[in-house]
Amino acid sequence: MNKPKNDTFLRALLRQPTEHTPVWLMRQAGRYLPEYCETRRRAGSFMDLCRNPQLATEVTLQPLARFDLDAAILFSDILTVPDAMGLGLYFVEGEGPKFERPLREEWEIRNLTAPDPGVELRYVMDAVAEIRRALGNSVPLIGFSGSPFTLACYMIEGGASDDFRTIKAMLYDRPDLLHHVLEINAGAVTAYLNAQIESGAQAVMIFDTWGGALSQRAYREFSLAYMERIVDGLIREHDGARVPCIVFTKGGGQWLEEIAAIGCDAIGLDWTTDIGAARKRVGDRVALQGNLDPVVLFAQPEKIAQEVRAILDAYGSGSGHIFNLGHGISQFTPPEHVAALVSAVHEHSRKQRQI
Ligand code: CP3
Repeated sequence: MNKPKNDTFLRALLRQPTEHTPVWLMRQAGRYLPEYCETRRRAGSFMDLCRNPQLATEVTLQPLARFDLDAAILFSDILTVPDAMGLGLYFVEGEGPKFERPLREEWEIRNLTAPDPGVELRYVMDAVAEIRRALGNSVPLIGFSGSPFTLACYMIEGGASDDFRTIKAMLYDRPDLLHHVLEINAGAVTAYLNAQIESGAQAVMIFDTWGGALSQRAYREFSLAYMERIVDGLIREHDGARVPCIVFTKGGGQWLEEIAAIGCDAIGLDWTTDIGAARKRVGDRVALQGNLDPVVLFAQPEKIAQEVRAILDAYGSGSGHIFNLGHGISQFTPPEHVAALVSAVHEHSRKQRQI
């Protein structure tokens, strides 16, 4: 077993005691860092950066060089999986991700197949292995994937959407077709995450960014049920260590008990849920990750520290909390404010443990 020197993140996920509350940030490697923009320019485009294991390693390590973060996250994107299914991913400046060939016709859906992670997504596995080597024994590496439903939103809408009217119309009119897409996606994501684990990812996270746009019944049937299948199929122990799994449904604060019941080790919370109340609801079934509003990082450092302390105090004493934002960091965030956040988490959580 290759235990990281700083394994606070892995211990907190398993609700074991830690000396401080571990912290990492969703999208910690990204456009708010000038060095990221520089590497991206060298790569040519965002996808060229993702496809180059050396450069993906470089940007993964950039936030760790600046801040005292307790985990690294693979630099990649959730949409690499539908891209590998042949949908043709591309990015338009200011408009976000798009697909050249979104799923529209029944025959296209019937022809959909899961990619082989060792072939079409080899570049991701190479990046995972390379990042693990570069991290040495410093901090653990998180692997990730989109949820089957969130991937399907982009695959069917063809890009970002305000109202998800194409996928939701399919959900109500042709649930059989949507279930078919979700089944393929669930198989693809399970194989993809297991390949990441075998390549060296020490924890995995499922990003269900759009599950919260569904009604409760639809969430259960079209998002949660497929995440449960994935969790059931994950490798839970690798290299002599438990590989914890985090499920993050943005807007899922009302469904915590149901999410906890699918067998994940931790739930990611967005900023709209009180973390103390969430903890009471899930009890000792899962750890919690979150949940500072990313926009707090635009306030002054003293205010950031105050908001950090409020979240740590709301969670209370005892283990099982991983500090994070409630969603990805904004590209306009001042990097010095991230430093203020990280030191506030470490300082205040150490103090909490001395009481
Ligand atoms: O957290 C990390 O540092 C790891 C890397 C990571 C990225 N995307 C890098 C990225 C992760 C975990 C993701 C997940 C992701 N990608 C999600 C789920 C989480 C969420 O934010 O809700 C989603 C929905 C996507 C799809 C996607 N990719 C979007 C919406 C965008 C932004 C497009 C834009 O122009 O604003 C991307 C691109 C992307 N993924 C960037 C980064 C750093 C910025 C691209 C760039 O450098 O131009």
